[in-house]
Amino acid sequence: MSAEIAVLAGTGKSGRRVAAALRADGHPVRVASRRAEVRFDWTDDRTWPAVLDGAGGVYLVAPDDPAPVPPFVAAAERAGLERVVLLSGRGSEAWHGRFGRSMAAAEDAVRGSGLRWTVVRPNNFMQNFTEDLFHAPLLAGRLALPADGVPEPFVDLDDVAAVVARLLTADGHAGRTYDLSGPTALTFAQAVATIAAAAGRPIRYETLTPDAYAAELRAGGLGEWAAELNGMFAIMAEGHIAAPAGGVEEVLGLPPRSFADWVARTAPTGVWTPGGLTPHAFGPTTSSSAATAARRATEIVSARGRRWAIPSRSSAAAQRARMSADLFEKK
Ligand SMILES: NC(=O)c1ccc[n+]([C@@H]2O[C@H](COP(=O)([O-])OP(=O)(O)OC[C@H]3O[C@@H](n4cnc5c(N)ncnc54)[C@H](OP(=O)(O)O)[C@@H]3O)[C@@H](O)[C@H]2O)c1
Repeated sequence: MSAEIAVLAGTGKSGRRVAAALRADGHPVRVASRRAEVRFDWTDDRTWPAVLDGAGGVYLVAPDDPAPVPPFVAAAERAGLERVVLLSGRGSEAWHGRFGRSMAAAEDAVRGSGLRWTVVRPNNFMQNFTEDLFHAPLLAGRLALPADGVPEPFVDLDDVAAVVARLLTADGHAGRTYDLSGPTALTFAQAVATIAAAAGRPIRYETLTPDAYAAELRAGGLGEWAAELNGMFAIMAEGHIAAPAGGVEEVLGLPPRSFADWVARTAPTGVWTPGGLTPHAFGPTTSSSAATAARRATEIVSARGRRWAIPSRSSAAAQRARMSADLFEKK
């Protein structure tokens, strides 16, 4: 059997899917995070050997504070890992400190290492509308962001995970950087209209100024994220990441999945329906697993309606959001 592949952020949106994609292809996986089967904490280097010793490669999602990344990468080299695949973000060449400090520092660390590194730079995940920042506002019937007419080619995290799994297990990708997006770009207004139509309920999109957005974030208790998020939306508004990118097809030989397809597959779970799922939302089957999923989703939706999920991932609401993600893997 080949060496295990360590998946950091293994309980998160991308890591969970990377682990599943690797396992589906028969590769042994070491799922790591503070709450995963292999305990890993960026802030405690005593937990790093359990991740690195004997592993063949690692999927790296950088922490918000990037300081531990260079020593972690050095430890990975000493442990004899062959490959590292880093999750970064699209348009990092335009960030200039306005956004993505952690991902940029992690790019520097892996590029400067002796590992066979590959960087993936995805656009905004489609799953931000179900498992992250945009979900609770959709349930409330109004998503308001500092994004106007510049379109975004949202990418399906299942495509990102399939790409990462391939990069971790196949030769020929060392030293490469892949931009990953969906096949078409659409504005947030178009994205929200697509979701509203599929959910069968009115949801409006509103464009805010950056100041108004910061005020709304502060009112929601998320003021600490305002500068970072406004930085991201500024980069989007400048058009740096608006055109679809070819990385998914280049790596997988398959076109990326579209936003419309993803919405059509996702809406029947009831994730955009206030009050949670009903068993009939799963179609004709009313099996106990569907009913259990519906009950769990009801709890998740009501919890998340109170507060947006945000990338600190430490709140109970965010933990429930991760549970809700399980629903979308039961496709
Ligand atoms: N959202 C987007 O559209 C988008 C697009 C491009 C790039 N990105 C980048 O994606 C990254 C986030 O990835 P994701 O969305 O897959 O993750 P996520 O769903 O936000 O989950 C975060 C993960 O990090 C783990 N974690 C948090 N603190 C940790 C610590 N101190 N030590 C070890 N693990 C820790 C969490 O697990 P535990 O709580 O169990 O530790 C969890 O598995 C960010 O860097 C973001 O900038 C996001």
